[in-house]
Amino acid sequence: MRQENLRSIYEELRSLSFSAMGRTSPNPPVAACITSSEGKILSRGNTQITGKNHAEREAYLHAADLPSYHQLFVSLEPCTHQGKTPPCRDLVLSQKPQQLQIGWKDPNPLVHSGDWDVYRKEGITVSLDPNLARVSIPFLFGFFQRIRYDRPWVWIKSAVNERGEYSPSEERRAPVSSKESEYYLQILRAKFDAVVVGPKTITVDEPSLDFRISESSFAEKGNPVSLVSDEASSFFSPGKGFLKSLFEISLEKEIFEKHKEDIVSYQPYRVFVYGEGQVFSRSFIDKQIRLNEMYGKKLCLFFRIRKEGSSVFLEKEISDTDLSLLSDFPVEDFFPSQGDLFLRSLSSKGINTVLLEAGSFLFHFVRNHLMEEDCILTVTGSRQESLWKEGKLFPGWKEGKETAKYKLNEDTWQLNNFVSLKNSV
Ligand SMILES: NC(=O)c1ccc[n+]([C@@H]2O[C@H](COP(=O)([O-])OP(=O)(O)OC[C@H]3O[C@@H](n4cnc5c(N)ncnc54)[C@H](OP(=O)(O)O)[C@@H]3O)[C@@H](O)[C@H]2O)c1
Repeated sequence: MRQENLRSIYEELRSLSFSAMGRTSPNPPVAACITSSEGKILSRGNTQITGKNHAEREAYLHAADLPSYHQLFVSLEPCTHQGKTPPCRDLVLSQKPQQLQIGWKDPNPLVHSGDWDVYRKEGITVSLDPNLARVSIPFLFGFFQRIRYDRPWVWIKSAVNERGEYSPSEERRAPVSSKESEYYLQILRAKFDAVVVGPKTITVDEPSLDFRISESSFAEKGNPVSLVSDEASSFFSPGKGFLKSLFEISLEKEIFEKHKEDIVSYQPYRVFVYGEGQVFSRSFIDKQIRLNEMYGKKLCLFFRIRKEGSSVFLEKEISDTDLSLLSDFPVEDFFPSQGDLFLRSLSSKGINTVLLEAGSFLFHFVRNHLMEEDCILTVTGSRQESLWKEGKLFPGWKEGKETAKYKLNEDTWQLNNFVSLKNSV
């Protein structure tokens, strides 16, 4: 197969994976391409929303008049079990591609991974493809983390000024990043299964946390320029690969349209971590109820942080009536030292990826439970309002190892990976 054809296949798979991410959980966002022997793409597919077709089934569904010789590229090994849809392995066996190229084996214990003799008996050659693995890891990594470690892939994001401050000392809302970053920050929300804020942010900002894009935010988006060479990281770098895709793929008008049209499917859980005894404003509760009505889903999750040694009896901060409109789940209680249980609870709800829009509390809450490849994203801006005299320093400022850096007009997006941070605490 010609190199340029292979490159287009990988690009197509990257774009399909990116589109799928954010609307498939708990399933992984898988991509599939069917090609001719020369590498011409004949059909394509990606994982549909939960309960709907997997990527291979979509690709075959849209394939008209397949030649007897064809190849199937799929980023994750075809499933072997009956779930909400029949096993993809049976479909592949019936379609008999000559070649089956797989990005990753499936760590899901429900899948008989690596049992590929059945394919070979039908004359289907199976191979693991390292380039396909590299292209697809940013999108599959959250699913791998949840299946292997019972916790999502964690990203901590903070917008800071040049001194690393995320907020003025006095309590008020103060946007830091520029309007050119806004579109990408919103697409980031679409790509994550859950977006989280901490106690004071709920009170000060009354945040919506939903995913919303508009023609004007698309028109105003800046042009990101990478400041770090592509060779400067390991072969598999999910964080770097994801950020690169965010900046390259979401630039396409077609991708923007797709996300706008399908805005309901891409909505993340809106997660609120609050303190025991915290008072919620009526306007905040009503806003969240309205968002649920608009998207037709109860997407709020509430976690209450108890004071260490506090009494057993707890007053409810949210009435049962409000909670029944806000969430399908009860409020869960954790102590500040139980960030690991918080992450596990998200995982148990099928959340593969989580974005913490962090002030000080959330960072400290999860810090000791972070793993290699978890990410801190700082967006450093110099927007006028960020020139406050004195501010609160983001505790994750300059933590971890720099993995990627982009200039986006006045803003700098820097991604740091946690590398055994746990051991350095
Ligand atoms: N730039 C950004 O990207 C970004 C992101 C998020 C938020 N923000 C801004 O940050 C500001 C809020 O910052 P923040 O760091 O104060 O917010 P936060 O992380 O949401 O909340 C921190 C507060 O949580 C409370 N807290 C700490 N430990 C606790 C515990 N064990 N149990 C219960 N509550 C506990 C404390 O409140 P008390 O002191 O009252 O006890 C503490 O001040 C807002 O103005 C918001 O706009 C900016």
